Amino acid sequence: MMRDFNELTSTAAVIERMANCRDERLRQIVTSVVNHLHAIVKEVEPTFEEWAFAIDFLTRTGQICDDTRQEFILLSDTLGVSMLVDAINHRRNSAATESTVLGPFHVAGAPRLQMGDSISRDGQGEPLYMSGVVLNESGAPIEGALLDVWQTSHDGFYDVQDARQPVMNLRGQFITGRDGRYFFRSIKPSSYPIPSDGTVGIMLAALGRHPMRPAHVHFIVSAQGYQDVTTHVFVEGDPYLDSDAVFGVKESLIVPFVRHDDVPAAERLGVTNPFYTAEYDFVLVRAAVAQPTPLESRA
Ligand SMILES: [Fe+2]
Repeated sequence: MMRDFNELTSTAAVIERMANCRDERLRQIVTSVVNHLHAIVKEVEPTFEEWAFAIDFLTRTGQICDDTRQEFILLSDTLGVSMLVDAINHRRNSAATESTVLGPFHVAGAPRLQMGDSISRDGQGEPLYMSGVVLNESGAPIEGALLDVWQTSHDGFYDVQDARQPVMNLRGQFITGRDGRYFFRSIKPSSYPIPSDGTVGIMLAALGRHPMRPAHVHFIVSAQGYQDVTTHVFVEGDPYLDSDAVFGVKESLIVPFVRHDDVPAAERLGVTNPFYTAEYDFVLVRAAVAQPTPLESRA
């Protein structure tokens, strides 16, 4: 076998070399990688030029990465792998709020604000009043739940991408009281392109795909004794809901952002008229709840 490496023996030959690997999980993972990788090569039968292109693509993908740019995560996102890993690691009861990817724009340590405060530090954009309740699976409000919120500007940029915005613009943390309610002021988020000036952008263009994400507000909701949920709330009617570049959309996370032209209501909510409202209730499951089995094996 070792002297007769060919199309028929290749996979077994490489897997046999791992016989002395003491890390069972590592051996399991690399065995699977080799199985699938060899199967791909046998299926597509690449030319040397195509193989060299693939090596160069991955090399350039790595070379773009630095402290603030992670092209491999973007590659994972745009190939649907990030959302697949998320789905596998967040099998929950249907009552729980569905999760999505964290994305590359979360910043730890956003300012702790009072309920009703605005997360917009520059006032640019159409006013938004967002509210809801953090509930447990029984529908009871959760006191002391922490909501970490972040979103884009009205023209589709996060503060960390955009020198025009104040630091920590459109970011904030809120803690619920006994009623579990949250409410804050912001601006209506915009759909935006993921960074497309690197290898992932080249790939998307070559595949006839656009780089857009539908408008959303990011949340991480956590509470003592409950599983955290990292998710987005999407703007109903956004033109990119069915073609999100990173496959993050779930039907249950889409809500109407309702436009109002109502001066007394605007004054009551502390926003300028006209304005938008959006409501979303988060449901957290107890930390002790066992993970359900994979979809395929359910009855
Ligand atoms: Fe985002």
